[in-house]
Amino acid sequence: RRIRLIGVPLDLGASRRGVDMGPSAVRVAGLEARLEALGHVVTDGGNISVAIAETKTVGEQNARYLKEITETCTKAAEMVVKTLEEGMTPVILGGDHSVAAGSVSGVAEFYRRQHQKIGLIWIDAHSDINTPASSPSGNVHGMPLAALLGLEPASLANIFGWSPKVAPENTVLVGVRDIDATEKENIKRAGVTEVYTMRDIDERGMRTVMEEALRAAGRGTAGYHVSLDMDWIDPEDAPGVGTPVRGGATYREAHLAMEIIADHGRMLSFEIVEVNPVIDEHNRTADLAVELISSAFGKKIL
Ligand code: ARG
Ligand code: MN
Ligand code: MN
Ligand code: MN
Repeated sequence: RRIRLIGVPLDLGASRRGVDMGPSAVRVAGLEARLEALGHVVTDGGNISVAIAETKTVGEQNARYLKEITETCTKAAEMVVKTLEEGMTPVILGGDHSVAAGSVSGVAEFYRRQHQKIGLIWIDAHSDINTPASSPSGNVHGMPLAALLGLEPASLANIFGWSPKVAPENTVLVGVRDIDATEKENIKRAGVTEVYTMRDIDERGMRTVMEEALRAAGRGTAGYHVSLDMDWIDPEDAPGVGTPVRGGATYREAHLAMEIIADHGRMLSFEIVEVNPVIDEHNRTADLAVELISSAFGKKIL
């Protein structure tokens, strides 16, 4: 493939600081060279500009920095469209997970112009489906999925002037284990039924879960965007994340999931989010991110 890396050093959506250094940490871990070693042609498109928190006011407490986040997400969305127009696969490096409101909007916009829908594979400990009204934290990184499904925040839902960007039947959550009570309501309200919890992975195995997830996201779509929040992985292996939750995917399960995605060959775009080098141990989480991206882009053991 021809791949463009797009850094989005956004940390305005999280309360813990430092994920703005995520793109840098993943670059330092050698992403471009690793993907090129697999035979891909990789160009680094640099970073999308992001406001500095200290120079801004927070705005509404129930969705802090929403204005600045919307500006950055809109720019990221435009870059994703341009990348797809040029025949390249976007790989977005976050930043906090609010960036997905932009990246997914870009992929959806590109395919909408060709009268096609997209699917979305959301791999995360969290469901990120709060709205400003339901959020316990006011952190926008807990809201992007709500926006993409046509709920709120409206400014994120309406990037490119239309909504929803993904249909509930093509939206799949994988590995969730920390869902706010208010989010359970929103999952129902949005009509998402393809929710695979850690319990599903434990009971049925990663293989079965991924096959079902990819089938749902791929049904009637051009393919799917993969949004990988590093807090999906157990904090033992991915300590450098802002909102760690015990009981996550193991190193081996995570690789298997990425390998299955590569085997299916229907991934349209990829993003890695929530890497926080400030609280990491010697960049381990970014190193693992690079390994997982390699598996998703075709690295095989044999
Ligand atoms: N549900 C919590 C909230 O709304 C945590 C969200 C964590 N999201 C993330 N992308 N790490 O604040
Ligand atoms: Mn290159
Ligand atoms: Mn997330
Ligand atoms: Mn998360």
